[in-house]
Amino acid sequence: MSTRTPPRTFHVKSFGCQMNVYDGERMAELLTAEGMTATDVRENADLVVLNTCHIREKATEKVYSDIGRLRREDGTTPLIAVAGCVAQAEGPEIMARAPSVRVVVGPQAYHRLPQMVAAAVAGGRETETDMPAEAKFAALPKRRKSGPTAFLTIQEGCNKFCTYCVVPYTRGAEISRPFADLVDEAQALVDGGAREITLLGQNVNAWTGAAPGGRAIGLAGLAEALARIPDLARIRYTTSHPADMDDALIAAHADNPKLMPFLHLPVQSGNDRVLKAMNRSHSAESYLRLIERVRAARPDIALSGDFIVGFPGETEAEFADTLAIIDAAGYAQAFSFKYSPRPGTPAAAMDGQIAPEVMDERLARLQDRINRDQLAFNRASVGRRCTVLVERRGRQPGQWLGKSPWLQSVHFSDEAAIGDLVEVDLIEAGPNSLSGRRVVQPAA
Ligand code: 5AD
Ligand code: SF4
Repeated sequence: MSTRTPPRTFHVKSFGCQMNVYDGERMAELLTAEGMTATDVRENADLVVLNTCHIREKATEKVYSDIGRLRREDGTTPLIAVAGCVAQAEGPEIMARAPSVRVVVGPQAYHRLPQMVAAAVAGGRETETDMPAEAKFAALPKRRKSGPTAFLTIQEGCNKFCTYCVVPYTRGAEISRPFADLVDEAQALVDGGAREITLLGQNVNAWTGAAPGGRAIGLAGLAEALARIPDLARIRYTTSHPADMDDALIAAHADNPKLMPFLHLPVQSGNDRVLKAMNRSHSAESYLRLIERVRAARPDIALSGDFIVGFPGETEAEFADTLAIIDAAGYAQAFSFKYSPRPGTPAAAMDGQIAPEVMDERLARLQDRINRDQLAFNRASVGRRCTVLVERRGRQPGQWLGKSPWLQSVHFSDEAAIGDLVEVDLIEAGPNSLSGRRVVQPAA
């Protein structure tokens, strides 16, 4: 057993999704509450937390290469903790493969990180991968400071069991955090400086809760309650499943002015055989009908999606259906991935695994379409006047960068400050951002 001096500085590195970013922030708050100081320079940190992602093979491999890179010239390492979904899925393997790792903590157990680090300092090697998420949130410190945009996890886990996906195994069954806790945390974020909150969940629109008085509500009801926080200007949510897109949530896009006109609604494939093999509970047609209803409520909504190419057995004709649904749906942006077999998921054992070159070629064709549509969406925004939430300085002197209601990056040069909501005329569009001119308000 080798003991260490207790860490005074720490660095948290998060991979993967926005929920990991949220978890990383909460771990940093926990360690700060213990008296440690965050540092951006990883090499100098006494404690490094790698908050990992297991969604695709590439993401998982990163953990082991990162652990290797933490070895210093003199052969020592910082105290290394592996958190997140790889910790959950491969805890014992990490401990066996990487002797320098002292702590392995799953996504539902990281409230115990300070005690685990203390035990590691005393010479132990600690693993905690228990699943009850409720205990975690109750044990986290109150939130204090926030940038202009903040994440708030409202729901975790997944009961959908898409056949390609590890999330139901790494994050566990769906749980919804209680209404009152969420209103409190949102208020604390706004008090700490947030003007926009993005509500997070693996199936965020499956959130359910009880409003004061006991009335059962869904995500639309939660967004309505949060919209009553005066200094909160914008509400977003991600990621949604088509099966949980209920009438109330669609109506909220028409009725709740703080709910931004943006919807991330993954379809994964445009072919019904593939969708069935993926265990998605929708067809291409039902997805398109759903989007029509959302657009009827909010005609300017920006649609985003996720796609997987090369799911086992996917033929060229089936892939062509995915290209066709892209044309039919009209995306403002989208994420696309090559299918990656994940250990323990049903699809990993399916016949007809697709060759890597075929996947590369399909991905390139799909991304061409998405890029084309993204540019078209941005170009169609030119001439619009919209509110931009200023997030940071731009690259040029005097330039500011913020987001439009449709989640586009917008830059403009004028007087402004981080956290301002400014009126901007959109004047030029590129594939990834727009430039704008701040509207000069006439003197009152
Ligand atoms: N292979 C490739 N992409 C995947 N995703 C989830 N699991 C896999 C996998 N095994 C993608 C889906 C999901 C997004 C978060 O990641 O598109 O919506
Ligand atoms: Fe990665 Fe999914 Fe886990 Fe997020 S939930 S960290 S995307 S595996």
